[in-house]
Amino acid sequence: MKQLTEKIKAEGSVLSPTILKVDTFLNHQVDPQLMLEIGKEFASRFAGSGITKILTIESSGIAPAVMAGLQLQVPVVFARKRKSLTLVKDLITASVYSFTKEENNEISVSSKFLSEDDTVLIIDDFLANGQAALGLAEIANKAKAYIAGFGIVIEKGFQDGGRLLREEGYRVESLAIIKSLENSIVTFEHSDEGKAEMIR
Ligand code: G4P
Repeated sequence: MKQLTEKIKAEGSVLSPTILKVDTFLNHQVDPQLMLEIGKEFASRFAGSGITKILTIESSGIAPAVMAGLQLQVPVVFARKRKSLTLVKDLITASVYSFTKEENNEISVSSKFLSEDDTVLIIDDFLANGQAALGLAEIANKAKAYIAGFGIVIEKGFQDGGRLLREEGYRVESLAIIKSLENSIVTFEHSDEGKAEMIR
């Protein structure tokens, strides 16, 4: 998605050979116009898939997921990472291992928001090692919902998440795929999207 890769080139910064910072438009400050375009792109890629619900995880998945939900005219459910005061019973949970924090976290969704009648599109901001995505899939599977696929804003192609999901047979649509962040330069998978020199 051209607009997204241009935004990454213009505003992203490489924090390390594995971490891209995009807090000016995705992870802290949010660019609503770009999120709307991202929502339209997910909606068009999954048009005709019979999506009834979008599933994401707080916090940074929510903005792109809501815009996709707006376009597809379906509700958006986000998994919680912390127990909510009002979310106490009939929870569907999954354990998600964070490589960055080296800890297991339990994520949860109320069972009243997902059922076997649902066809789910799972959306997230980043796909790195795939642990969050697999946890969301586990929740959808426990609810017996059908998973139509994954919509990812930025996939880091040099980490294992994309391969794991595709090997499990899931459809994964990533709007930008990063091949490398070595030497503080962002290289995209698709050669027409070029390289961004980002030594900031
Ligand atoms: P995984 O789910 O794919 O296995 O990812 P991992 O545990 O490695 O990542 C944990 C958190 O770090 C997630 O956000 C994920 O989106 C984010 N993350 C992973 N790689 C990058 C990166 O290159 N850049 C940025 N900016 N974030 C990355 P989180 O802690 O759940 O945060 P949030 O959703 O509340 O913002």
